[in-house]
Order: sequence, then C-alpha cells, then structure tokens
Amino acid sequence: MECSKCRFENAAEIWFCGQCGNRLTQNAVAKPVKTIFESERKQVTALFSDITGYVAITERIDREEVWEITGRIFQGAAEILAHYDGFIERFAGDGLLALFGVPKSHGDDPVRALHAAREIHGLVASLSPRYEAGIGIKLSRHSGINTGLAVAAEIDHVKGTHRVTGNVINIAARLSNLARAHEIFVGFVTYRACRNHFSFEPLKPVFVKGKTEQIPLYKLLSSKVSKSFNIRSSHRLSSEMIGRDRDLYKLEMRIVKAIHGRGSVVNVIGEAGIGKSRLIAELKKCGIMKQATFLEGRAISIGKHLSFHPIIDIFKQWTMIADDDTDSAAFAKIEKTIRAVHPEESDEILPFMATLMGLKLVGRHAERVRDIESEGLEKLILKSIRELLIRKSELQPVIVIMEDLHWADASSIKLLESLYLLVEKYRIIFINVFRPGYLNTDTGTVTKVEEMLPDHYVEVLLQPLNDSDSKTLLDNMLEFKGLPRSVRTRIVEHAGGNPFFIEEVVYSLIDEAAVVRHNSGFEVTDKIKSIVIPPTINDVLIARLDRLETQTRELVKIASVIGRSFFDHIIRDVADYIDDIDNRLEHLKDAYFIKDRIRMQELEYLFKHALVQDAAYESILITQRKALHLKVAKSIEKLFKERLHEFYGMLSFHYGKGEDLEKAEEYLTKAGEESLRSSASIEALVYFQEALKLFIDQHGDSANPEKLLVLEKNIALASCRKGQFVDGLKYYDQVLERLGVRPSGSRIIEAVRFAGNLLYVVGKLFLSSNKAKRSPGRREKEIFETTMKRNETLVIADTGRAFSSMIRLLRMGDAFDITKTANGFRLWVGTGTVFSYMGVSL
Ligand SMILES: Nc1ncnc2c1ncn2[C@@H]1O[C@H](COP(=O)(O)OP(=O)(O)O)[C@@H](O)[C@H]1O
Ligand SMILES: [Mg+2]
Repeated sequence: MECSKCRFENAAEIWFCGQCGNRLTQNAVAKPVKTIFESERKQVTALFSDITGYVAITERIDREEVWEITGRIFQGAAEILAHYDGFIERFAGDGLLALFGVPKSHGDDPVRALHAAREIHGLVASLSPRYEAGIGIKLSRHSGINTGLAVAAEIDHVKGTHRVTGNVINIAARLSNLARAHEIFVGFVTYRACRNHFSFEPLKPVFVKGKTEQIPLYKLLSSKVSKSFNIRSSHRLSSEMIGRDRDLYKLEMRIVKAIHGRGSVVNVIGEAGIGKSRLIAELKKCGIMKQATFLEGRAISIGKHLSFHPIIDIFKQWTMIADDDTDSAAFAKIEKTIRAVHPEESDEILPFMATLMGLKLVGRHAERVRDIESEGLEKLILKSIRELLIRKSELQPVIVIMEDLHWADASSIKLLESLYLLVEKYRIIFINVFRPGYLNTDTGTVTKVEEMLPDHYVEVLLQPLNDSDSKTLLDNMLEFKGLPRSVRTRIVEHAGGNPFFIEEVVYSLIDEAAVVRHNSGFEVTDKIKSIVIPPTINDVLIARLDRLETQTRELVKIASVIGRSFFDHIIRDVADYIDDIDNRLEHLKDAYFIKDRIRMQELEYLFKHALVQDAAYESILITQRKALHLKVAKSIEKLFKERLHEFYGMLSFHYGKGEDLEKAEEYLTKAGEESLRSSASIEALVYFQEALKLFIDQHGDSANPEKLLVLEKNIALASCRKGQFVDGLKYYDQVLERLGVRPSGSRIIEAVRFAGNLLYVVGKLFLSSNKAKRSPGRREKEIFETTMKRNETLVIADTGRAFSSMIRLLRMGDAFDITKTANGFRLWVGTGTVFSYMGVSL
C-alpha cells in the first residue's frame, strides 16, 4: 500500500508506513472516538520506546530492509497499543511515542502502559531471529515511561490528530534514552501507581532538562500479576445511575442556561449515601460539560476549623499545587494560572491569592500586603477571587462545585455567600452539595440564597430510591436476578432507598461467600439462607470491617484516623509496623472499602464513602485512638516539614485528639495566627479561644502571664475583626490589666483623666522641646501598642471614648519615642487629622 504522505510503497498488510510512520489505514487503532475540541489538563502516561542500536542497524542493511523491520514493529506495536487503549502519538524512524489517558482515562493508565511496553519489547525480541543474522546484533528495544499532567487539545481518533504538550513527554523521552537494551525505565509517579503490579529496582536519581531537581528513576524488573490479568473482563460490581433522570436534567438545564449567559446557585441536598456525589459524577460525564470549566473543592469532616479549606482546595486543583510542593513552587503555579486568566491584573491579584493559600510572601508581594489590615485583606482576597472567576467565565461558563459543604468552615461559607451575587451577571454556577441537618449550611446558605436570588436559585432534593429502583440497582450490581425473593425484599426494606446501603449489603454477601463470582457473573450459594441483614448502614459496615484479617483491619483503622483521603506515603509511615502494606491496600480496594487515584502527582487513597471512614474510626478503642492521632501528627510534622504552616489546623486537631495538650495549644495558636494572616478571623477566634482554654485547663490562669497575654491579645484582635467589639474590648482591657494598667473605673474618673491628659497634650504643643526622646521599654511598648489597637476598635464602637483614649495615648507617647512602636507613626498622623478638624494644627 502506498503511503499518502511520502509515497513509499509498503507491503499490503502493513498499517504504518515503514519510511515515515504515517498511518496507512484507519484500522490500526480501536474504534474511533468522538472528537474533543476543548483543551483539557489530563493525567497522561507517556511511553517512549526506541530500537536499540538503530543507527548501527541502518548502516549494516539496506533501507528497504530497515523499513520492513520498522513496519513490522509498528504494526505489532499498534495492535498491542490498541488492546490497552493507548493512543499512538508518533511513529518516526525507530521511535514510538504512545499516550495513555487521552482521550479517555481508564484509572489504571500507568499499568496499561507498562503492560504494553513489555509486550512491545517481547514482540521485538520475537522478530529478532529473523533479522539478526543480517544486522549482526539481536533486535531489541529500550523504553521510558512517565506519568504526569499534560495539556491535551483537539483529540480526534479518526484523523489521528491531537496535540498533547507538557514536560511529561520530554521526561519519558529522556528516560528512554537512559535505558539500555531491553530495559524499561519509569518515573516516580508511574512507579507508585504500578508497584503493586510490577517489581522495580530503584536507580540513582538523574537531572533532566526543565527540572531543577534530580528526578527519581526505577527500572522495571518483572510483573507481579498473574497471566490471567485481563483489563476488559473484570466485573466492577457497579450499576448505572438509577432513578435520577429528573435531577440530572435539572442540573444540565442550568448549564445550558449558563452557556446562554444566565448563572445560578444550585443546592444539592440529601442524606449520606443517597447519591449526591454520584449525581455530580454523572453530570461531569454529560457532553455539555465540555463547554464549561469545572472547579471543585471538598470540605472534610474535621474541616470546621480549617479556615478556607474547601476554597483552598479549589484553587489547589485549579493551579495544580501538589501537597509536597515547596512554597516557591506553589507560588510559581499560582502565578502561572493567574497570568493565564487575568494577565493585566496578575500582580494585584497574586499576593492576595497566595495569602489565602497560606504561602509566605517575599519581596514586593510581601510589601503589598504588609500594611493591610485584616478587613481590608478580606476584601482584597474576595475581590481577587471574584476577578478570577469573572475572567474565567468570559471564556467559558464556570461551574464551582462544593462537595460536602456541611463540613465547611464558617469563613468559607461567608466567602462563598458573597460570591453568589456574581450569578446575576456572569456565566457562573455554584453547586453546593451537602447533607441536611448541619447548622452552617441549614441556617446560612440555603435560606439566604433563596431569598437573595429567587430567580437564580434551584434546589435538588435527593429522595430515597423507590422499591422498584432499589431492586433494579441490586440486580444491576450482581448482573443477575438470581437472589432469592425473600433476600431481595429484605435488602430493599432495610436499605430504605439508600443506594450506598444496597451496595454495602451486596459487598457483604460477597465477603461472606453467600454470592460468589462465577465465570463473568455471580451465583448464589447455600450460605444465602443464613444471611442476616443488619438494620443500619453502620451495622453493615461494622460487620464487614470485622471480617477483615486482623492486620488489614488495623490498617484501615489507621487510615480512618488520617482522614477521608490519605496519601500513600503517609499511611506507610504511620502504619510502619504492619507488614505487606501493598497487598493489604490492594485487598481493601478489592473489597470496595477504599479507592485509589493519582492526585497532584501523588498516589492517594480515598475511603469510598465518608461513612466507611466513620465506621472504621468508631471501631478503634479510645486508648488506641490517642496513640494513633499522635503518630499521624508526628508523620505530618516529618513529611510536610517544608510547608508545615498549611497543616497547623490539622496538627492541632490530631494533637488535641492525642491529648498532647501542649502541642495542641501550640498549633492552635499558630493556626490562629495563620488564619488572621489570611483574614479568616472567624476561625482565628475559634483557634485562639480553644488554645486559651487548653492552656488554662493545663496550667491554671496565672501560671504564665506572658503566654496568656499573647492569647488574650489575639482573641481581642480576632473578635474585633469579626465585629464582636464588646468582646474585643473586654479582652484588650484584660491584657492592659495584666500589664498593670488600672481599669478606668467610672465615667467621672475617666472624664477627669481625659481633662488632665488633654491639658497636658495641648500644653505640650506650645512648649515644644527638642530633647531627644528615649526608646520605650518592653512593657511600655506593649501597653502602648495594645492601647493603640484597643483605640482602633473604640473608633468604631464608641467614638467619644476613642477620642479620650487617643489623648491618653498621646500623653503616654510623650514619655518616649513612639515611632519606635508598631503603628506609632499612624497615631501622629491620625491625631493630626483630628486636631486639624478641630482647628488645631500640630
Ligand atoms: N442513583 C443511583 N444509582 C446507582 N448507584 C447509586 C445511585 N446513587 C448513589 N449510588 C451509589 O451509591 C454510593 C453512595 O453514593 P454517593 O453519591 O457517594 O452518596 P452521597 O454523596 O450522597 O453521600 C456510590 O457508590 C454511588 O455510586
Ligand atoms: Mg458524597
């Protein structure tokens, strides 16, 4: 067959041109997949593979023969790649680049790539005897495989065109270059994702172009998986979504409306396990979603006091910040994203977004936020987020999904609420997903949005499935209708229309071998007769956990202490006394307790549902819980030491549960300071109040006045920022008392003092002295600064007293050089303004 590109005449059965690698027929890959025209950021596994000693081969035999060899290899490789659903990106000369994960992700793309590479190597080795006499060496290949994020655009399987760009491909090529005959080298993420399926040998890390640090490198040794491994046949024990067509339609309609310029706020409300997340997952699969940008954040069950946690989650995913990125790497990613969305304003937005994300700023960016007080900061952060969303929505409708909002912290909810108005003007949809019965969401989001935006508000209230739908779900999962009627009826009755309950009962039938796999489906055994269906989901889960082998049960308990999701390296560190973790994690995956995924370039596990985590956690003895929380806290300290400030809230939680109150208090204080920095004053207040309580519980209220003073000052500051001026003033007064300042007492005494101070200050104006002033002492400075802060609150809360307080400050300040105190200069300017207003010039 003649190649349409280079006109080379290839043998009839050849699919790829031996000369230029062009595809000769359209049969070479699996069935055509529809074209995607938008760009997407995707997790991609790149396989780069070359013929070893290709140049020497081309020198030894004539061109026609080289083309025959490469043509045969291309053809065989194409068949192998089609089997594993890999995408052939490029065939050129001896080289081959295939991608897994575009246009379709399979969830196990790195594993597929490794299988494909091994088979391609095997194919070449099997062709070798035919040619080795002629070329004088054995035919072999060497390959590199790397996994990471890439930008995929305009993928079209029919034409064989698409563009995928990203460093991930260059690194795969570099790994291939480093490998010698027969060797397959893989990068870290690939290794992590595949190490349960294959054995590897770690090699010395290397430098690669485009990376400043050395990258880890692994050599593939052998497959751990039995020959029966067959990607396509494994039955997944799942069902299509049942009975939610109308709900899905409602959501889709909102997206259609957004495309046409009308935004909305949608609340998806339902009990745990009813199918909220599933509905969102199905929505994401709808064709129309290709026309929108998705931003997703999830609140976590301990998130009540983790300020802005779900908002930060959204931006972490948007900017692709990984948990182990250094501050500067994270900063660079934020900068890149902002520049891409809003280049003109990026310098103005950047420092505020970075502050929100808890990054330490340096240089001009630090300068930009330094003197901005919390309330101002809050406004500027909000403004930055708003600008980014607006800009992004000008390109494509933006859908902001907030999963499990019932667990969100109050600052996040407040921030979201102030963004909702955007839907009136812009193509933005907020989808809040939450359970009913939680204070923050029940009294805040739902009612307010409905009142605020009646024309843009939609509620999707997920009801239990009816009996017929429940039965369908049951049958779908097992792919047969052979369950005895009585068992089916009992399951449906107990489940009360909760799909998660039904799923768990099915898994428990399998755990107990009442239902067993048979060929490609299932069949019922005699054990079904004695099966007991527990009355609640929690009972089903506890029974299932109890059946696990002791150490595996221990592992799942440890995981539940870490959280709903947990990175592979954390669980390995905390559970270091458990052997054979690989297989145990694998088992937990097979039994549908956990799932795995690659997030932010890291292998992460996730409890299939929060209820599984709860059940596992509840089953831990209280005494053991303490020790585990401490272990988790220590692991976090060790593994995330570079960016510990992001984990202060989490650390205080674990130390608190571990009853190391000193550490808990230390991290609460730090978390409070961190929240104040990012303007989350609501959380800051909670942190400081808890820290103070812990401290007093441990040491009493007079043990360490300095420490108490710091905490009380912080509570005062956070209260005032939150608008609780009375509380704020109370704490400022407490601080001043600790510093030895007498409380003002009655109004009359205050008035007399005011008159005295005023006379003194005005008198000083006319008796100016050039005497150099001394620097204030520590206590003096502390009193001055606290009074100054207190005064700022008084200006808002009680103007009359504010003025008298300012005069007192000026008198106090006359004793020393107030410019040596924080904000001292502002006092002069501020007072100057007041005096000018009164006709007195300073
Ligand atoms: N309508 C449905 N049809 C089939 N399976 C469902 C349906 N709703 C939920 N499920 C399954 O039930 C389990 C729990 O659902 P999930 O969406 O996680 O619950 P929620 O987010 O409301 O707590 C998931 O495994 C999900 O796939
Ligand atoms: Mg959910």
